[in-house]
This record gives sequence, structure tokens and C-alpha cells, in this order.
Amino acid sequence: MNVIPLLLALGLCYTGSICKGFEIAHHHNYEEMLQVMEDVAEKCPNITYLYSIGETAGNKGRELVVIVLSDNPEKHEVGEPEFKYVANMHGNEVVGRELVLDMIVYLCDQYNRGNKTIQKLIDTTRIHIMPSMNPDGWEKADGNQAGKDWLVGRSNANNVDLNRNFPDLDYKIYHDQSKNNHLDFQYSPVFQPETMAVMDWIINTPFVLSANLHGGDLVANYPYDESRSGNKQDYAKSPDDNTFVYLAESYAENHKEMSESHEPCEPMDEGDDFGEKGGITNGAEWYSVSGGMQDFNYLASNCFEITLELGCEKFPPASDLPKYWDDNKNALIEYIWQTHIGVKGVVADENNNPIADAVIKVTNLTGGQNKYINHDITTGQQGDYWRLLVPGQYEVKACAAPKYKCVGKMVTITNPRHTEAQVVNFILPAATAKSQKREKFVNENQVFNTAEKANEEADYERMAELKELLAAYLKGRTN
Ligand SMILES: *[C@@H]1O[C@H](CO)[C@@H](O)[C@H](O)[C@H]1NC(C)=O
Ligand SMILES: *[C@@H]1O[C@H](CO)[C@@H](O)[C@H](O)[C@H]1NC(C)=O
Ligand SMILES: *[C@@H]1O[C@H](CO)[C@@H](O)[C@H](O)[C@H]1NC(C)=O
Ligand SMILES: [Zn+2]
Repeated sequence: MNVIPLLLALGLCYTGSICKGFEIAHHHNYEEMLQVMEDVAEKCPNITYLYSIGETAGNKGRELVVIVLSDNPEKHEVGEPEFKYVANMHGNEVVGRELVLDMIVYLCDQYNRGNKTIQKLIDTTRIHIMPSMNPDGWEKADGNQAGKDWLVGRSNANNVDLNRNFPDLDYKIYHDQSKNNHLDFQYSPVFQPETMAVMDWIINTPFVLSANLHGGDLVANYPYDESRSGNKQDYAKSPDDNTFVYLAESYAENHKEMSESHEPCEPMDEGDDFGEKGGITNGAEWYSVSGGMQDFNYLASNCFEITLELGCEKFPPASDLPKYWDDNKNALIEYIWQTHIGVKGVVADENNNPIADAVIKVTNLTGGQNKYINHDITTGQQGDYWRLLVPGQYEVKACAAPKYKCVGKMVTITNPRHTEAQVVNFILPAATAKSQKREKFVNENQVFNTAEKANEEADYERMAELKELLAAYLKGRTN
């Protein structure tokens, strides 16, 4: 097949562009993958930046390479949200790797051509793309003479499945619900070089939104990935369940087939007819995974991540790749726009000095309810924050105890399409002894509300403890 007319038909290239030499119907090996990234960087020098987050476990010295697309790509800008796509974490699941290469070529090309929507997306978002988190696995899968396999090349060079190798933070929240964000973890020798590098990357970059690209089914999967009951299949709701459902739907509905009725993949377990369910699933409801990257993002950092399964075949023939791009192109781009839903802003003190690590708490007030969303976001080094939210009415509160008073604001979120998040800035006055006492009470009360809804024994114990605290507090106040 002649690829050139195909490229033109898909709108991927135009005469004289970088796509000269970029073949869409081709699996790019490690060197070729780097070459595509370098070509894009060369063609779009003002909006790209290449970096590596570390080496893989194998002995070939392969680097985990990332390309950024943004105005001022080399550094974080105050108020500008950061996004990431991580592909090919399972080395034999290769579609995502090719799709993100197609996408960087397309974005660079459209930017240079003056496409206003693409220019706005790139100028207002810092987009990080890692085409392969497991290049060693890819080479193994590609070199497998027996043919492309369900498992060969899935793991890294040390035979470890990277999507089971992250700290299991779900385990922590199941035992203590009082904290549901920025959970601590300890480094351990069991973490692979790839996992360590990505963990540090997640912790040290103010990512807001992300997707992790896999293959083997066709569905957008959202947290939690690990069931709460320990059962193999059990819906595990996060406090941001509504927002995650929306995010997963945003991908599925912009994909040409994912949310439509389609043949389930083989081999399939009962209940895997995702086309019937709008092309989305809760991770643990499908099958429980512990030590996955998705839950780690949500529980250790500010980043919301979903997992995309891009098709039944993990390593399809190269000639199928143009169709994959055609099916996923809009979904991939629209999903990046979701980095801009909800609110964002800067938290500062009365002298306008930004406050890092301030806590953003959200209560859902829509329809007269008063429901604290038990997942706080924190501000970055320059005091900036982003809080993804679906439309509704909320109280957004910024706190930086014990030095400052909390400040709350009522916000109505509408999320107009292709628009930056609504800006809500905060100035926090210095705390007083009285304000400190009040905040302590409110915080305890918030946990109390959450615990009340849970039905586990441990939670009831915690609740009883909090009731005592509450009683003591009220007594102290009336006496
Ligand atoms: C990069 O930016 C400079 C300065 O704004 C401009 O002169 C140049 O044309 C830009 N290059 C490309 C390839 O867009
Ligand atoms: C600009 O990019 C968007 C998103 O891919 C696309 O839908 C639109 O057709 C492009 N506009 C032009 C003029 O090519
Ligand atoms: C807030 O509540 C409304 C009404 O129940 C709901 O539709 C929306 O999804 C909630 N928002 C979040 C972020 O959960
Ligand atoms: Zn996978």
C-alpha cells in the first residue's frame, strides 16, 4: 500500500512538512521513535522540549523520553495546567505508542499551519508525552518470532509488570479514610527503575490530568483500580467518581467506536460488553488491580489519571494503524482539553506572596446538598492550583493551617468547551487563635461526615471517636 495518499487523506501531513519520512502505517522501534520526537522538536522548536526521566532496567541504556508541547515548553508557568499521556507501559501493547507519535506530528503541523484551536490548546496547556514507558518490553514483543503474544514483552527487562509495581496506596485508605490525598509512601528496592522514575516525575510535576494507554480491550477505565472488598470484581468509587465518569466518557464519546455498541474482545469475561455500557468502566468493577499507576496518581499527587484500552489487539499489524489514528484522533485531543474543567487560581497571603502546599477543599452544594468531596488538592510552589470539577455549585475553600485563616468562595461551574478553567484566587489572612480552633473543628467534622457514610467497622470506631471529640468541643464551648 502506498502510504502517502493515506497520510494526506487522514490530514496528517501536507507537502514539505515533517511527515515526509513519517509513516503512519509503521511500528516505530526505539531509535525510530526518538527520531520522530526529534523531528517534531526540530519542526516546532518554539513549542517543544525533549527530556528524559531516567533509564530503563535493561542493559541497552534506553531512556524514558518525554516530549513537551506548549508555549514556553521548558518550564512551568503560573496558572498553566500540566497534562500527560504515558503509553506502552506494557511493552506488547503498542497502539498507544504509535497514536501519541501520530498526535505530536499532527499537533506540531496544525500549530505551524495556524490552526487556532490547536494553538490555543498548546499555548494554554503544558502537554507531556511519553510514547514508551517500557521500550525494553516493546523490543522483546516485536522480536518474538512466535508471533505477537498476549504476554511476551508485557513486563520490563526484569520481568516485572510495571502496572503492578507502584506503591499500594488503596490499601492505606481502606484502613484509614481520614486522608484521601497526598498519601505518603516509602521507596523500596522492589520498585523498578521505570516505576521509580515515573513516581518521581508524578510527584515533582504539577500534573492535573493524565491518561495511561494500554491495549487488549476497548474501554476507558477510571479509578479506583483496586477493589475495596478484596473481591476480584467490585465497583470501587473514589470521592471524585462523578468527575472520573465524565472524563472517561469524554474519551469514549469522542472515539469513533468506543462508546458505540461493538463486539466484545476475546477472550472476554462475562460482563465485559463495554459497548453496552458507553465504553467506560470502573477499574475494580472490571478486575481489581493493586499497585497500579492510575490509583497512585490520584492518591499520591494532584493528578487525575484514567486508563485507556485502545483495542482488542495488543500488537496489530502496521497496516491497521491508520484506522486506529482515525478512530482516536478527536478523543486524544478532546481529552487534553479536559485539563481545563473546574476551577484554578492562585493562593497568596495578604502581601501577595504565593502560598505553596495550601489545601483546596471542595464541597458540592448542587441542588441544596452539602457534600464534602473527600479529596483535597494542594497548591504548587508558585501558589497555583487546579481543581477538576463537573458542572454544579460548589464551595471552594483554601486553607493553609496553622498560619492562615481558611477562605471559602461559592463557585458555579459550567465548563464551556475549549475554554480555560474559571479563575478563583484566594488571599488568606493570618490566623487567630479562634480561627485555628474553628478550623480544627470543621476538619474533624468533615471526616465525621465521611465516616458516617462508610459501613466498615473501623470507620464506626473512628466515628465514635469523633463523636466524643465533637461532644467535648461543644461542652467546652457552652461552659
Ligand atoms: C519561533 O519564535 C520566534 C520568536 O518569536 C519567531 O521569530 C520564529 O519564527 C518562531 N519559529 C517558528 C518555527 O515558529
Ligand atoms: C484544527 O484542529 C481541530 C482539532 O483537531 C480540527 O477539528 C479542525 O478541523 C482543525 N481546523 C482546521 C482549519 O484544519
Ligand atoms: C455535585 O452534585 C451534582 C448533583 O448531585 C452532581 O451531578 C455532580 O456530579 C456533583 N459533582 C461532583 C464533582 O461530584
Ligand atoms: Zn496493559
